[in-house]
Amino acid sequence: MKRTITKEDPYKVCFVCLGNICRSPTAEGIFQHLVNERKLSSYFFIDSAGTSAYHIGEPANSKSQWTANRHGVKLHSKARRFEASDLDEFDLVLAMDHENHRNLQRLSRNGQHSGKIKLMREFDSRPEDGEVPDPYYGGMDGFQNVFDVLKRSCENLLDELEQLVEK
Ligand code: 4NP
Repeated sequence: MKRTITKEDPYKVCFVCLGNICRSPTAEGIFQHLVNERKLSSYFFIDSAGTSAYHIGEPANSKSQWTANRHGVKLHSKARRFEASDLDEFDLVLAMDHENHRNLQRLSRNGQHSGKIKLMREFDSRPEDGEVPDPYYGGMDGFQNVFDVLKRSCENLLDELEQLVEK
């Protein structure tokens, strides 16, 4: 995770959940929004993906979009499946829950990528059980909670990474 970040060698972050339509697109949108606000967009490449193939090609869930929009954050993702080659491509891969984390570790055949696969809530000041709860089958309050958890976590993550940026 620790390296110098320059415009020539932008830092690549991928947020990962199960379907790539609720949690990880929200994390991607919030992180991009914060990066833009801090005028750091040339220094980061931001993406999201899912460990399942259930929703490939779909935009973010309408409840995720509505919640994010209410907070001034736009979600532009189109669901894709996370592939083993992404582990080579990205500097940091952030899993939304323990199951996603286990599935990502399994994709790394000899465990060589384990240092770059982390739980999103490692960056939360209130990590609870370490999971960003799956909101898919629940009501709007679950989507709002996901947004709040991800906003806190993304802010802390960017605070850490911004210190590695060499302008
Ligand atoms: P996500 O939410 O992993 O946050 O995108 C889900 C989306 C779809 C399903 C489960 C969770 N599903 O079972 O189809």
